[in-house]
Amino acid sequence: MEQRALGRSGLEVPVVGMGTWKTFDVREESGEAQAHAIVERALALGASFFDSSPMYGAAERVLGGALTGSRDRVVVATKIWARSSEEAAQQVRAALGFFGGRVDLYQIHNLVSWREHLTLLERLKEEGQVRAIGATHYSPSAFGTLAEVMQSGRIAAIQVPYNPLQRDVESAILPLAADLGLGVVVMRPFGEGGLLREVPAARDLRPLKPFGVTTWPQALLKWVLSDPGCHVAIPATFNPDHVRDNAAAGRPPWFGREEREYVARLAQRPS
Ligand SMILES: NC(=O)c1ccc[n+]([C@@H]2O[C@H](COP(=O)([O-])OP(=O)(O)OC[C@H]3O[C@@H](n4cnc5c(N)ncnc54)[C@H](OP(=O)(O)O)[C@@H]3O)[C@@H](O)[C@H]2O)c1
Repeated sequence: MEQRALGRSGLEVPVVGMGTWKTFDVREESGEAQAHAIVERALALGASFFDSSPMYGAAERVLGGALTGSRDRVVVATKIWARSSEEAAQQVRAALGFFGGRVDLYQIHNLVSWREHLTLLERLKEEGQVRAIGATHYSPSAFGTLAEVMQSGRIAAIQVPYNPLQRDVESAILPLAADLGLGVVVMRPFGEGGLLREVPAARDLRPLKPFGVTTWPQALLKWVLSDPGCHVAIPATFNPDHVRDNAAAGRPPWFGREEREYVARLAQRPS
């Protein structure tokens, strides 16, 4: 698995990591056992970056449990998602408990109360409980505010959606991140699974074989990661076979412009 510097955050990350929205919000024993199996498979394949949030129900707790004994080998990204500073402090206490007293990338979820939470995160960073600070938003309508936060000089990474059918970040956010040296975490590489509903025919994927791509999810991940300004993609899955499929996209050779355009055309008109 290729590793990249997550901008100037000081973190080294594998290019394929994993999200935990919906998938890790499990409460029964069998669900937790499956989450542990998913994490174990990801670690064996080098996909050792995990993204969570208190917004994702039980996900932080379940992820923390699955990382027992492996915490030092992984990069944990989670978020504050709180209206008040009391709620934020409570979320931080819980997350530090789940993740061995340290969060590697602590992000402000959907920019909720960002000014207030940045001050808290800066204090935690000074104290050594947080390694890098980031901000996330899923909606292009918030990218103006996101750009303002990026330009504040107070964050080292952003998390944004990017896939062949959702390219809003290309015009301003990705160039700004590159100019400022910020890390870029890519959420929703499969458009919440929507891009996988109709899959191009095997013959249409054949031209991508020299790039190590044999499946449509791999083509989509490689499309994202072939932009060197994108440092880690975080597909969510609850299927160990899909973990393997996705991790295989994390190695060169990377697509050139022509292959990226080809995949974007396939995404618009599958099969
Ligand atoms: N900060 C924010 O505002 C925000 C918003 C949205 C998401 N996120 C983060 O980004 C992560 C990813 O986004 P997402 O969960 O919305 O969507 P996604 O990763 O684009 O798509 C997830 C879907 O793809 C399927 N999938 C994954 N790998 C597959 C494979 N190899 N073959 C077939 N199906 C596959 C999964 O189903 P299976 O379980 O069957 O594999 C799941 O239904 C989230 O989990 C979360 O951590 C952050």
